[in-house]
Amino acid sequence: MKFVNIVGARPNFMKIAPLIREMRRHNHLTPILVHTGQHYDVKMAGQFFEDLQIPLPDVSLDVGSGTHAVQTAEVMKRLEPILERERPDLVVVVGDVNSTMAAALTAVKLHIPVAHVEAGLRSGDRSMPEEINRLVTDAISDYLFVTEESGRRNLLAEGVPEKKIFFVGNVMIDSLEASRRLWANSSILERLHLSKAGYAVATLHRPSNVDDSVTLKGLITTLQVIAERLPIVFPIHPRTKKIIESIGGMAQGLYFGPPPTPTRGVHCMDPIGYLDFMSLVANARLVLTDSGGIQEETTVLGIPCLTLRENTERPITVTHGTNRVIGADPKRILDEAMLALTTVPPSLPPPPMWDGHASERIVKVLREQFRGR
Ligand code: UD1
Repeated sequence: MKFVNIVGARPNFMKIAPLIREMRRHNHLTPILVHTGQHYDVKMAGQFFEDLQIPLPDVSLDVGSGTHAVQTAEVMKRLEPILERERPDLVVVVGDVNSTMAAALTAVKLHIPVAHVEAGLRSGDRSMPEEINRLVTDAISDYLFVTEESGRRNLLAEGVPEKKIFFVGNVMIDSLEASRRLWANSSILERLHLSKAGYAVATLHRPSNVDDSVTLKGLITTLQVIAERLPIVFPIHPRTKKIIESIGGMAQGLYFGPPPTPTRGVHCMDPIGYLDFMSLVANARLVLTDSGGIQEETTVLGIPCLTLRENTERPITVTHGTNRVIGADPKRILDEAMLALTTVPPSLPPPPMWDGHASERIVKVLREQFRGR
């Protein structure tokens, strides 16, 4: 059986890595890896292949950046002949990026079944590009693998038949657990002169937070105020970096490199690899982010997380984790950060089936579904 697996952007890599590894354990499965090239920098893609020991892609589509329509269309145009040539039994897509939706659409139009890993998540906010990608991908997929109970509920409410839905846990946590020894040995804290629980980590890349310069300035100023209490490590996404540069990063008091005193200030840097980042998060006192995946990783690691968005598609990180969804209002962020810094983080067990074995369950389901073919 031939399964074509699609990756495109940074949050896809840690989801596909354990799936490919598990598929390769079964002789009768031939996993093929297609990288759309939505993310292409070493720091956004190449480093993740290395850190997560993902085999080199069998096919690279090299679509690069573009508007949503261009990016989606380029993936579809370039993937179609590959799928026609390979005629796989299944196309596996993960997450909610443009490459996910584009690949799913291409496959179903060729009558190739699609499995969506991380299905059913809903923020309820259709202004987010990812929400549209989730809705479309789920509507056309044949096998819907959900990470949390809300995923099943959302899909059932949208009329998806129960037999298409499989609650299997979280493949992102498979990667976190499988590489725990490696990231625990990272030297990133020494390299950045940080002490365990003596700093915070911030990431920002959502269009709603970074594309509008006034909102972004407000967030950066807030980070700078919090950083007077404890240093903040801020690996900057290329999308965010562009806007910071356009509003005069220096004028905002932001510059790349360590802050003048190691005990406070914002330490800006380029995006960092998976192992160093996991080590940074696992040892942080606090995380401020608008990422989806980091809400899940902090949940399992027990690190307080403030999500700088109005909503989350991952409600279990709030009910079973350390996540608080607080929006982007500077005053609220400051209040919440100060509260988090003076509160002992709760120690909670991970959500159901976030145990490092989700990919085994997914491949088991798929083998059963395809038995006899
Ligand atoms: C994409 C995903 C988002 C995910 C994020 C993780 C969509 C709609 N969005 O957003 O869900 O959370 O990835 O990072 O699919 N760029 C580079 N180098 C790269 C890639 C991008 O410099 O390797 C720059 C380009 O200027 C590009 C911009 O970043 O225009 C945005 O990239 P894009 O893939 O369009 O969206 P992200 O913001 O990364």
